[in-house]
Amino acid sequence: MLRLGILGCGRIGQVHAQSIGQVPNAELVAVADAMPAAADALASTSGAEARAAEDILSAGDIDAVVIGTPTDTHFDLIQAAAANRKAIFCEKPIDMDVARIRACIDAVEAAGVAFMSGFNRRFDPNFAELQRRLREGEIGEVEIVTILSRDPSPPPISYIESSGGLFRDMMIHDFDMARFLLGEEPVRVQAVGAALVDPAIGAAGDVDTAAAILTTASGRICQISNSRRATYGYDQRIEVHGAKGLLKAENQLESTVELATEAGFRRAPTQHFFLERYAQAYVLELAEFVGAVLDGKAPTPSIHDGLRAQALADAADLALREARLVEVDLT
Ligand SMILES: NC(=O)c1ccc[n+]([C@@H]2O[C@H](COP(=O)([O-])OP(=O)(O)OC[C@H]3O[C@@H](n4cnc5c(N)ncnc54)[C@H](O)[C@@H]3O)[C@@H](O)[C@H]2O)c1
Repeated sequence: MLRLGILGCGRIGQVHAQSIGQVPNAELVAVADAMPAAADALASTSGAEARAAEDILSAGDIDAVVIGTPTDTHFDLIQAAAANRKAIFCEKPIDMDVARIRACIDAVEAAGVAFMSGFNRRFDPNFAELQRRLREGEIGEVEIVTILSRDPSPPPISYIESSGGLFRDMMIHDFDMARFLLGEEPVRVQAVGAALVDPAIGAAGDVDTAAAILTTASGRICQISNSRRATYGYDQRIEVHGAKGLLKAENQLESTVELATEAGFRRAPTQHFFLERYAQAYVLELAEFVGAVLDGKAPTPSIHDGLRAQALADAADLALREARLVEVDLT
């Protein structure tokens, strides 16, 4: 049995508490939040104890922590968790700064603790099957990966202002997916973007509509399309073109019911947003974490996967700001 503590009882902390309840050999012992009322609320629905974060980090009855606090708090919590020899599951992004992520890698490796990065989309059953069949060679060598990722509507401007920008906050998931599918590291990044959805996002120094093109050393390409708006719901699609064919994964709709009349065909909207679309993926990622830690194996995606996705986000941001192709070298 793996005994877990959750740090941060907001949107994602609540998802992880629910997931832990569905994962075999996992017990949620305690939860903590900077706002005691948030910890108390999650404690009452999950059956865990509400404790201070420091008490979870140093607790003798907790083996692993799930870090679901705001990104700018991850660094200190990772250092403390490693020092206390806890296995760590940390939400994306690990940190906004690659040098600080490297410092986290040093701390985690020096302590010899397990670490998993929260790139939940790898565990979406459709995307996972697509990647498995790709690796099994069903379409031969990968040539072009296309990732379409659009939110139903933008977050509040206050969120945008502290998000680190679209590439680090939103497209980071797609950078990880690109690496997962390409099977080879991207070495060049091009990016364009604009504020087409809300001028206030532009005034805050960010974009709400962006595209990036990643290229690997052998010339494989990944094109990513992001928007903070999609009128028909959360748009999450992938297509991989290879030497022998195509693999693609479509959106999940709210239902499979379709209306057909003389006016044409009408289907349901896509599942509303990430909490609905990736509900299963959140459970499966924690099952991977718990299973790997109990078996003494390294969980995937790793802390190095977190570093590489962040480096691609930084490169895309630079490519947009300086209107140029950016080389990525993490060796
Ligand atoms: N993988 C995903 O799909 C996904 C989705 C949403 C958010 N996230 C990531 O999860 C993290 C949290 O996002 P959220 O949307 O849940 O935020 P949120 O604001 O809803 O929740 C964060 C909670 O952490 C608490 N908190 C702040 N500092 C703390 C500290 N030092 N110790 C304990 N608690 C503290 C806050 O009071 C708040 O309740 C971010 O890094 C975000 O990027 C990932």
